[in-house]
Amino acid sequence: MSITLGTPLQSSAFKVLLLGSGELGKEVVISLQRLGVEVHVADRYDHAPAMQVAHYSYTLNMADPLELKTLIEQIKPHLIVPEIEAIATEVLIEIENNNIATVIPSAKAVNLTMNREGIRRLAAEELGLPTSAYRFAKTLESFRAACDDIGYPNFVKPVMSSSGKGQSRVKEFSEVDAAWEYAQTGGRVNQGTVIIESQIDFDFEITLLTVRAKNAETGEIETHYCDAIGHRQDAGDYVESWQPQAMTTAALEEAKRIANKVTVALGGCGIFGVELFVKGDKVWFSEVSPRPHDTGLVTLASQFQSEFELHARAILGLPVNTARHSIAASAVIYAGVDAKNLAYSGLNLALENPNTDLRLFGKPEGFKRRRMGVATARAENTDLARQLAQETASKVTVNQTQ
Ligand SMILES: Nc1ncnc2c1ncn2[C@@H]1O[C@H](COP(=O)(O)OP(=O)(O)OP(=O)(O)O)[C@@H](O)[C@H]1O
Ligand SMILES: [Mg+2]
Repeated sequence: MSITLGTPLQSSAFKVLLLGSGELGKEVVISLQRLGVEVHVADRYDHAPAMQVAHYSYTLNMADPLELKTLIEQIKPHLIVPEIEAIATEVLIEIENNNIATVIPSAKAVNLTMNREGIRRLAAEELGLPTSAYRFAKTLESFRAACDDIGYPNFVKPVMSSSGKGQSRVKEFSEVDAAWEYAQTGGRVNQGTVIIESQIDFDFEITLLTVRAKNAETGEIETHYCDAIGHRQDAGDYVESWQPQAMTTAALEEAKRIANKVTVALGGCGIFGVELFVKGDKVWFSEVSPRPHDTGLVTLASQFQSEFELHARAILGLPVNTARHSIAASAVIYAGVDAKNLAYSGLNLALENPNTDLRLFGKPEGFKRRRMGVATARAENTDLARQLAQETASKVTVNQTQ
């Protein structure tokens, strides 16, 4: 089987539509551009990171079924690549059912993973994977009972949310009502369902980037794994990551078994960020995103093919190589202020060490805790790489220009 791609902006163009234009999408676009793909991107605001490197960009509400459908019908993309979760997924299911475009990795995967209830029930109840104990609640009364049932401390999350929004760690019953209030306002949909999870007492947590890609000769989909990525989260948001994360052989095998089961069930081609908790040889499934993962930014410095190139290749039906060439780490650069039109200084100092690199995302507006860039660093071991990445990030200062 031979894969053919055309010329962008000509009638032979192979068209990809990215739904979401953040920093992860920006890198995916760059990878697609290198292969001569015609790239269309969408987001809810102008000048989003991926818009700055795409052929065409569109500003719309992707959660609105009519707006989304109209856009897809206008572009007629070969592939639709969701980069965020807040999308009218019913439109993607319809598009896939009518063979209008291929949804990456599959409409089912996008639909199930946008809702914590869908993916948790699939992983724990259908696939029998180890997870934290959990309950779902739709009312304050059932929520209180569920918290008591699960015990303390526990984690409360709106089922429709990401990046720590609306999440709390509840230490005792007196905090339950406040956690409910917070979850109701922090989710994508007001008055939504909430998941209550028992706390897993892990040694460390990892992202196992798992790639489903076609074998060049047979056309069969095969599963490939990147080396485990360790990361540290603060308020549900990643602040630093490193690769590889040391772990026992048994834990690594179990992590791969879990990742394989859940990604096979979701189907399609592309990269998945499988989030796992590890304690000794024991591994728990936490969640999965059917797209590049923020903690995987470290692969820009550690792998021959970053997670973005791997995704681009896998969705185009091309072979992938998940091998790592270096030990590396990444550290996030926050805006630190609520302001537009920011300037970044100290870049020469940050890049002085030849083993460091930066990505500045070019977001038109910053918020205190908004991720504006990332520093990466290579070193002999992960401790040194983490230290160097942190130092590099801290040398970048974000300034207001007015
Ligand atoms: N049951 C749990 N036990 C222990 N720690 C947990 C549990 N659930 C969540 N956490 C901690 O909170 C972090 C964020 O949780 P989770 O990944 O479910 O939320 P998220 O909003 O999807 O975050 P992100 O978008 O950054 O992945 C986890 O990475 C972990 O550090
Ligand atoms: Mg997560």
